[in-house]
Amino acid sequence: MPPTFLISASILSADLSRLGEQIHEAEEAGTDWIHVDVMDGRFVPNLTMGPVIVEACRKVTSLPLDVHLMVESPDILLPAFAKAGASILTVHVETCHHLHRTLQTIHELGCQAGVVLNPATPIELVLPILSMVDLVLMMSVNPGYSGQSFMPEVLEKVSTLRREVDEMDHPIWIEIDGGINAQTIPLARKAGADVFVAASAIFEHPEGIAAGIQLLRAQLI
Ligand code: DX5
Ligand code: ZN
Repeated sequence: MPPTFLISASILSADLSRLGEQIHEAEEAGTDWIHVDVMDGRFVPNLTMGPVIVEACRKVTSLPLDVHLMVESPDILLPAFAKAGASILTVHVETCHHLHRTLQTIHELGCQAGVVLNPATPIELVLPILSMVDLVLMMSVNPGYSGQSFMPEVLEKVSTLRREVDEMDHPIWIEIDGGINAQTIPLARKAGADVFVAASAIFEHPEGIAAGIQLLRAQLI
């Protein structure tokens, strides 16, 4: 079977005054997931979206909502995001004192569980819990803002993780986030990623959302 590649459109670069329309447009153009970037102004130097935005997204789409929690204390927020309609809750390994327990809680809340690594974080930190996650997200920029440049040095970590995942019994997604565009998506794919997050390459594409998604998808054929 050919590999499946998914696109997760990050609404961080969407026109939030027209969020519903922008999500519809991304859905029509074939995005697989909607990526919601939650930032608390502490773990990362930016403040963005909370459960009310997830709830608003849930009202306008049935696509999986891929919620990326860039917050200092994710545990206290998990129930609210699950209730709001998140499908996947992804926590940063750098923020979890008890990662095993946090991942268990996410599953108990009925969501899929993901774990994220910053560019400077070694993958060894997640190897002991790989069998517990549905997804590993590799940051290819320092988290906090859209529109930053892709860091090619993370590709080696993606390749190492791909080898580990291929030896596992149950499949998990390897997602990559930050600086993904038509030039960088083939590199990430070659290294072994299979879910590609993009904000500016989709929502700020000069010819519109559909053109942005089509251009990314064209590199995955
Ligand atoms: C960065 C966020 C990303 C961001 C990606 O901290 O986690 O999801 O929206 O933006 P682009 O695709 O523009 O690099
Ligand atoms: Zn993100």
